[in-house]
Formats: sequence, structure tokens, C-alpha cells
Amino acid sequence: MDDIHSKNINSLHSDFLVIGSGLAGLYASLYASRFGKVLLLTKSTLEESNSYWAQGGIAAAIDPEDSPLFHLEDTVKAGRGLCNREAVEILVREGVERVTDLIALGMKFDLGEKGLELGLEGGHSKRRVLHAGGNSTGKEMVQFLISSVQANPNIFIFENTEVAELISNGERCFGSLAFNLNIQKYWVLIAKYTILAAGGASGIYLRTTNPQTATGDGIALGFRAGAEITDMEFIQFHPTAFYTENGETFLISEAVRGEGAFLLNNTLDRFMLKYHELAELAPRDVVSRAIFNEMKRSGVNYVYLSLKHLNPDFIRKRFSNIYNASLQYGVDITDDLIPVAPAAHYLIGGVKTGLWAETNIKGLFACGEVACTGVHGANRLASNSLLECIVFARRAVDLARESDKWTDKSDNQVKDLSFILNPDSQKDSFIKLKSIISQIMSEHVGIVRSAYGLKRALEVFEKVASSGDELVGYYKLKLQNILDVCSLVARSALLRTESRGAHIREDFPNEDPSWKAHIVLKRDSEPLVVKGN
Ligand code: SIN
Repeated sequence: MDDIHSKNINSLHSDFLVIGSGLAGLYASLYASRFGKVLLLTKSTLEESNSYWAQGGIAAAIDPEDSPLFHLEDTVKAGRGLCNREAVEILVREGVERVTDLIALGMKFDLGEKGLELGLEGGHSKRRVLHAGGNSTGKEMVQFLISSVQANPNIFIFENTEVAELISNGERCFGSLAFNLNIQKYWVLIAKYTILAAGGASGIYLRTTNPQTATGDGIALGFRAGAEITDMEFIQFHPTAFYTENGETFLISEAVRGEGAFLLNNTLDRFMLKYHELAELAPRDVVSRAIFNEMKRSGVNYVYLSLKHLNPDFIRKRFSNIYNASLQYGVDITDDLIPVAPAAHYLIGGVKTGLWAETNIKGLFACGEVACTGVHGANRLASNSLLECIVFARRAVDLARESDKWTDKSDNQVKDLSFILNPDSQKDSFIKLKSIISQIMSEHVGIVRSAYGLKRALEVFEKVASSGDELVGYYKLKLQNILDVCSLVARSALLRTESRGAHIREDFPNEDPSWKAHIVLKRDSEPLVVKGN
């Protein structure tokens, strides 16, 4: 422990340590604050999360003509045989309760003439997507919770605080070692319960709808601490991200297609009619794959979304953000064709949890995109993820508060004290190596994969790891996290010798019933293939 003191390490104790400030982290913190002291950590600012950018909304069967059962059927159908039905039942039933609670607390969703205005998205058989601020649902929900979190005397917020490692002996988690990037100070954060809510990983791709910071740090932390990681091959590509030559992109919400937008190929044919009976509103994997085929066939890197036949006043109001963002690229979405192409959007896999968001490590819970609760199967139904965040964040806290409290001393569990702020000179090397990885992920571990490409990707990751030997401290940690996550995706994708949902293999183009199974990876262990859903 001399080392700890010589490096200006302070320690803090709390009941709950929440890592990540997206919807799951904020909701967990707020709910947990009723039962004890909460430390809420985020590596950037409270607003910087995938949830903040979520456009479409939050799906819940609250309409009298809808039912959780219909929502369950749509979710399971989209999930292509891999949804955990029990988890989905919880999602759709408790989801209605959680959304109702939020409304009672004062969250304002958009209203129409007959009450809540409900949107339609791909794979949903009913209008059930609540939205706020038009298409700024994530932002509105996150801001609503942030104001309560900031005013709560039981929640202590640590911004710009990067977690170096979870403190775990592989069986029990005791908190984390973290480093505040602003004041350059270590914290040993000891907690009875650690809730990992660190978000997704689509930022490992070149074209993504996620912030660049979404590189799966939470999954890497969980993996290194001994948590089981599952379903990593299922990366969901959103079909319609705005296309620009230089790779800049932003999301054109599926809700736009819900309001009637058409997809057209380079000869202006409405191609989705030939791919699926639901045309533009087919499940997301079907639409992404169809767009990929059309792009390949035509040799053009995008297709078009057309809203020209829709009411322009309605479109400007309902999708004001998309309208304004597109105008900046010279596209008036009410009058021009919008160039779109798929972009990495959502990590379906993650830290494996049970029905109460518990992991295989006692005291460690996971919720939100970092977790794999089994609700999404092989293909997430649109707008189910914000719902999953709040349902399973609450469940994590509920199980934690009923569990035996752990009070032992744990300072001696801290292993890695090499986390130091680097000189800026290391930043360039890190960025160079990260872009090699993103390039390879996009080329070989993207929408369509093959054994050849996946093996090539794994070889490149090994080379990058050795080139990264010169990095130390912070950038070494960041590189290690990215390499761990990308290797987990590529290894799982190589093992799954079939095409299902968001995972498409050109060398195994069909779904194979014997692959109704989940791949589970754990540090220092052989991969497990667990049959069933
Ligand atoms: C969208 O608005 O299209 C994204 C919604 C989602 O990914 O659930």
C-alpha cells in the first residue's frame, strides 16, 4: 500500500458505485439513492452518453389498444430465436410501470390530440414509441434525470473520471480504481455494490451513430475482472445514417420511416418492397442487409430516403433536429432525397446478466448497453433499449439492496497502479493505432463477415497490441480496452458459423438451427457455446 500513498491515492466508501451516466446509470443512481450513498462516475461529462443521442424514443405498450403481450411477440420475433423470453416478459411488463412512474415524476413526452403521441418503428405491430422534443427523446430523458441526480444529496458525481480497473478477485467485486483526469488524482472507490452502466461500443467502427467515446470500456473492465461476456457478435447496424463522402454522419431516426418515408436505390426504385412484406418497416437487420445488397449491386455507397410525399410542416416539427442537421449539408429533407447508409449503432451483446442485472461476480451488476440481459436476442427491436435501461437498472438496485452487505477491507485487491496521465506525445500514437483498428473492424467485422476477414482482423489486433507496447498509463489502458472489445467481437463472430439477425456471414449465409445458442467468453477460459435462448 506504500505505492498507493506515494501516488496520491485517496479512498472513498459508498453503498453503490455506478459507472456510467447514460440513462441506465442515471436511473440506477437515482433509485439507489433511496437506499444508501451513491458514487456516480463518468469518464466525460454527465451529458456525454449514447442515451443522450437516442432519437426514436422508448417503446412501451401503454396504449389501451396495445398490450405487453403484443410487445413481447414483436420483440421475440425480431430477436430471431435468441431472446430470453423471461427477460422480455419483464421488459414489456415492468417497462409500462417504469414509463408510467417517469411520467408521474414529471417527465414530459410529446402529446398529440388524443394524449401521448405514439410513434411507429420497424418490427413493431403497433404505435408504441413514446418520444420527447420531437426526435430528441434521449436528450430530454437524460436531462430530466440529470436535474434530479444533481439535486440529490445522496449522490456524489465524479465527472472526467476514468475507471482503470474493477477491484475484484474474480468472485466478488469490491468497487473500482479510478483516476480523475482533471485533478490527476486516483480514487480507490470501495462499494458494497458496483453497477456497471458504461454504455456500448459502436465507436470502434469508422461509421457510427455513437459518440467517439463509446468504445466499450465497461465490457473490457468486466472481462478483465472475470465477468462472463456474451453475444458479442451481434452488433446492430442502423440502416439509415446520413451519408457524406468524408465519413461524417448522424442518425436519421427509424421513426422517419415510421411516418412513411421510402427507401430508394440509385435507380430510384422503392427496393424494400421486394425484400419484406413490411417494406421500410421490416426489422432492422433485414433493412440493413437489403441496403447493403443494393449498395453492392449498384457500386454506390448509399441509397436514398425520400420524405418528399409527406407533409413538410409535420416533418419540420416532428424531426426538427434531423431537418436542421441535414440542412447544414445542403439537404432539405422535405424536398430533397437524403443519402443514407448503414452505420454501427448498438451492441446487443455485453456483460452477461441474469434477470436482476446480476453478473457472475458477486456485487457486480450490469445494465444498459454494456449488459446483455438477453432481451434483444440476435436483433434488437427499435426503441427497446431505453426501456431496458430503466427496467434493469431498477432491478439491479432491488437485488443489491436485498443481498448480504459486504464490508471487508479491500485495498489489497488493487493490482494496477500504473494509470498515469500521459504526455500528449502519446496521443498521436494512440489515435493512429485506434484508427487502424476501426478500419479493420469496418472492413472485416462489419455488416457482412467471413472467416478469412475475421482471422485477418484478429491477426491485425495482435500486431497492433505489440506496436502499442510503447504506450503507458492512460493510453495503454484505452488501447487495451479497445483491443479486448474488438477481439471479443471478432472471436465470437468467427465462432458463429451461420447468419442470424445482426450477424451476417457471407460464407455461412443461412440461419442454422443448431446455432440457437449463445457464445460466452470469459478471461483465461475456452469459449462456451450455451444451447437454447
Ligand atoms: C432511431 O431513432 O432510429 C434509433 C432508435 C433505436 O435505435 O432504438
